[in-house]
Amino acid sequence: MKRTQQLWSGLACLGAILVAFGTISPGTALADPPENQEFTGAKRCASCHFDQYMSWRKTGHAKAFDVLTPKYQTDEKCVKCHVTGLGAASGFKDIKTTPALAGVTCEVCHGPGSEHERVSQPFAKVKKLTPEQDKLVRGTIWRIVPQNVCVECHITQGHKESPTPPELRPKK
Ligand code: HEC
Ligand code: HEC
Ligand code: HEC
Ligand code: HEC
Repeated sequence: MKRTQQLWSGLACLGAILVAFGTISPGTALADPPENQEFTGAKRCASCHFDQYMSWRKTGHAKAFDVLTPKYQTDEKCVKCHVTGLGAASGFKDIKTTPALAGVTCEVCHGPGSEHERVSQPFAKVKKLTPEQDKLVRGTIWRIVPQNVCVECHITQGHKESPTPPELRPKK
């Protein structure tokens, strides 16, 4: 771990402790979303973000796992760009164990959101949040993860040829 990383994870830990012991009152916005959140899957996000969910459903991202033929659905080489959080502790394992994380779901772009869900729960039925509540809730999730996430899957040559060669495509 680099020194700066150490420093940041140290600070994040301290932050968690301060929150846990109530030193920081809820209402204090966090600079970055808390680390070590777990992946929840898009349906859980849908309970509060229905519009975003419905528009996401229509994108190729929602079907990114289904376009893989069964042979490739268990092939890590392919799956890493067609699922959510492969390799992370709470990320995609296989379609039986983690069906909610198949495809390019919300948390690929926004980061895992279990803590965001927990913090937001009390406000689920609130029409208009106070500025403090709004800040608190937004502070627990990335508006968009800081790395250039699109490029991780789209510019790297996932497939030797573009468009995707016929033998990789599902048979019509
Ligand atoms: C219990 C309700 C609830 C759940 C579940 C929930 N959110 Fe949110 N989320 C909110 C609220 C409330 C806000 C504040 C803004 C608003 O009112 O839309 C918010 C804001 C956001 C924002 C904007 C952040 C910003 O900086 O502007 C993103 C992105 C987001 N949520 C993603 C997600 C994702 C991804 C999931 C699933 C992992 C999720 N949310 C689950 C309630 C929820
Ligand atoms: C985890 C890998 C991954 C990431 C990250 C990712 N994509 Fe994709 N994207 C895919 C895959 C796989 C498909 C093909 C899905 C299909 O054909 O069903 C796709 C399809 C698309 C399409 C085709 C349109 C559609 O609805 O089918 C667009 C546009 C797109 N992505 C844009 C983006 C943008 C913009 C970002 C970043 C904000 C992004 N992607 C991040 C994997 C990813
Ligand atoms: C580096 C990330 C990455 C890897 C690895 C990857 N893919 Fe993809 N895949 C994408 C992206 C991005 C798209 C959407 C853009 C495109 O069609 O090039 C996509 C699209 C697809 C599509 C839909 C094509 C279409 O025309 O509708 C299929 C099928 C597919 N990939 C199969 C595979 C298979 C099989 C493997 C493993 C041999 C694989 N992918 C590995 C990123 C990847
Ligand atoms: C391919 C990446 C990608 C995926 C997948 C994705 N989002 Fe987003 N989302 C974005 C980007 C980019 C923004 C705009 C960020 C900005 O404005 O700075 C955004 C904005 C948002 C916002 C902020 C309010 C708004 O509408 O502008 C919410 C809430 C949100 N997304 C929720 C979701 C939920 C819920 C899902 C899954 C059902 C989802 N997103 C899937 C990339 C994604």
